[in-house]
Amino acid sequence: FHSAGHHPIEICFSTKCAVLLVFYSVWVAAVGFLLLMWDGLHYLPGPFVSSSKGTGAVTLLIWTHPFDQYRELPDCFALFRIDGCKLTDDERAYGVADAVLIHHREVATGTAELPPEPRPSGQKWIWMNYESPSHTPRLRRFEGVFNLTMSYRTDSDIFLTLHISKPRLVAWVISNWSESHARVAFYYQLRRFVPVDVFGRAGRPLPEDSGGVSLVQLVGRYQFYLALENSQHTDYITEKLWNAVRAGAVPVVLGPSRKTYERLLPPEAFIHVDDFPSVRGLARYLLMLRQNPAKLRRHLDWRAGYSVYQPAFWAEHYCTACRGLRRSRARTDVVPDLTDWFRS
Ligand SMILES: *[C@@H]1O[C@H](CO)[C@@H](O)[C@H](O)[C@H]1NC(C)=O
Ligand SMILES: *[C@@H]1O[C@H](CO)[C@@H](O)[C@H](O)[C@H]1NC(C)=O
Repeated sequence: FHSAGHHPIEICFSTKCAVLLVFYSVWVAAVGFLLLMWDGLHYLPGPFVSSSKGTGAVTLLIWTHPFDQYRELPDCFALFRIDGCKLTDDERAYGVADAVLIHHREVATGTAELPPEPRPSGQKWIWMNYESPSHTPRLRRFEGVFNLTMSYRTDSDIFLTLHISKPRLVAWVISNWSESHARVAFYYQLRRFVPVDVFGRAGRPLPEDSGGVSLVQLVGRYQFYLALENSQHTDYITEKLWNAVRAGAVPVVLGPSRKTYERLLPPEAFIHVDDFPSVRGLARYLLMLRQNPAKLRRHLDWRAGYSVYQPAFWAEHYCTACRGLRRSRARTDVVPDLTDWFRS
């Protein structure tokens, strides 16, 4: 309604105009009503009040930790940019959870029971299993129990694409932000030419204790990592450099001289800020490398023989389950033929 410019009441002086005003009000009321209905459709069922409902977020209860191995639950947004998910493994949340993620193994072997019936209205039970049918016992017991499936099969209701995505460009993790640091001045210049994802107290939250996904795994999703020392001193090089190296991102370094770094790494293993007359020149080089994988490889070939980073298995599954749940929220789902489907 803001695009109209003036509010109609301010410009209404004639009877004709008053009639228009009435139409306008009816229209506003009708649209408002429709919007309410639309909202209602999303939130209709359930006497249970979930604290996350008003915001459109969903609560996903992780019923058992797969194979009874405890893992800290991930922060879906920080790790996977999956928004609006509240994960919990506290069974007291059962009454308010939008869905329960149930891993087959524990409920099939009896180390855990299914959640109690009757289930809260509108709640979905998600069957999760990544074993093959020949290693999935007692399937028949669960006919008609679940609302959604999640497995390695591409025709599961929720399917986790194990993709190789194009890495992002530049990451920087900074805990002690100080305007007086050369690295902050450098960052201000660099971001004029290339996007930089900043993590740490001054940026996005770090997934340090998030589902066991470490800083190294975060950095591994980037092509370049800014290893900028907080001050420039002879031989002062910190773990920042090694985080990049371990992650497989090419470090862009600001610290002591290139010679100092070359005592630690092959010359092509890092990009030194001093290699370029200007930050702009450096930025251009990074963008050029992104377009020329063969040239980027020159900075990575020395790594041959090093092991490759593996993402945390269950963390991404929980977050993907949650995203799938949000998409299916307005529907009723039933898995009627779990055994036949999974064995087919
Ligand atoms: C953060 O940087 C400021 C300014 O250089 C410095 O005085 C302070 O000691 C630093 N703090 C930490 C924890 O390194
Ligand atoms: C979930 O499945 C149960 C059992 O088949 C069914 O009664 C219930 O209506 C389903 N709920 C939703 C929200 O799909």
